[in-house]
Amino acid sequence: MACASFAKLNAASSQWIGQHSFTQRRRSSTRRVSVPIRAGSYSDELIQTAKTIASPGRGILAIDESNATCGKRLSSIGLDNTEPNRQAYRQLLLTTPGLGDYISGAILFEETLYQSTTDGKKFVDCLRDQKIVPGIKVDKGLVPLPGSNNESWCQGLDGLASRSAEYYKQGARFAKWRTVVSIPCGPSALAVKEAAWGLARYAAISQDNGLVPIVEPEILLDGEHPIERTLEVAEKVWSEVFFYLAENNVIFEGILLKPSMVTPGAEHKEKASPATIAKYTLTMLKRRVPPAVPGIMFLSGGQSEVEATLNLNAMNQTPNPWHVSFSYARALQNSVLKTWQGHPENIEAAQKALLVRAKANSLAQLGKYSAEGEGDEAKKGMFVKGYTY
Ligand code: 13P
Repeated sequence: MACASFAKLNAASSQWIGQHSFTQRRRSSTRRVSVPIRAGSYSDELIQTAKTIASPGRGILAIDESNATCGKRLSSIGLDNTEPNRQAYRQLLLTTPGLGDYISGAILFEETLYQSTTDGKKFVDCLRDQKIVPGIKVDKGLVPLPGSNNESWCQGLDGLASRSAEYYKQGARFAKWRTVVSIPCGPSALAVKEAAWGLARYAAISQDNGLVPIVEPEILLDGEHPIERTLEVAEKVWSEVFFYLAENNVIFEGILLKPSMVTPGAEHKEKASPATIAKYTLTMLKRRVPPAVPGIMFLSGGQSEVEATLNLNAMNQTPNPWHVSFSYARALQNSVLKTWQGHPENIEAAQKALLVRAKANSLAQLGKYSAEGEGDEAKKGMFVKGYTY
């Protein structure tokens, strides 16, 4: 049955299908096995980029806040939302010595992709020198979805192909598109379908232009619901996402996922332990995500720095079919901002604070993290009701 449908697919869409050969050993003889994969000028490179990002003990530093959201980060330490202040903050992060030991990719906002250090070195070159892959947020944000239950949809498909080609020229090799699903608002079938279809169209366009798409349907923490309800919604959302990814001929070996962890709603009466969160999250992923996908890079979603790291660690106590790692923004930046306070004399200490968090999550990726000695600041939750990115 499987062979027949492969053959049908080959015949029906031969212009899309290439043959990738894999060597398979059988008793004493060796034979070549061909596995169909969508042919595109970038397919080998996409697979390689995704593998590099999903490398052991490393994860993603997400600093792709829009200018408005970066402004909120800066105002939390009393700084104005000016281009020089955003540049200074991103320079602090991206020039941290030793960052590449723990970080394999950095997601940037468009402004940052084209910026340089105050000494004139392009940020993308700072990243490349540390073997960190530059990435770019390509969505244009959320707007109300007419006909839904107060839900939203994500804009950005118009002109995406030409923008992606430009980002590739500037050095980006992966992309991110964040859409959200709200459990207290339903979610409605319309909102889930729209989120999944938008992600799939974006993923196909990104791959066509040499960018590995990070697929991120964020299921918001908002709500009073129990963990079982989050599991149910997450299964529904991911099944639709993979349905449409397949319909759009996306190469699964050349994508990365950025899911929310399966937790109770932020306003639920009881908190769940890392072991419970790991159990539910891995159950959901094993039911929905094919092992062809190289990496699962979680968002932190308003958890405290320590919580996000403990939960990741719990998920890496047994082997998984995919690299299970992090792509945190808030859970990597909170201590850094508090340490920096916008003062040049604090830059070194703030970079050390970033390394502490990056190393903790690197250990969690390997299942070897302990929260012993973590400070109070790192344990503070960062959940904001109705958070916008
Ligand atoms: P956090 O939830 O970790 O803050 O990040 C969300 C995100 O999408 C960053 O790229």
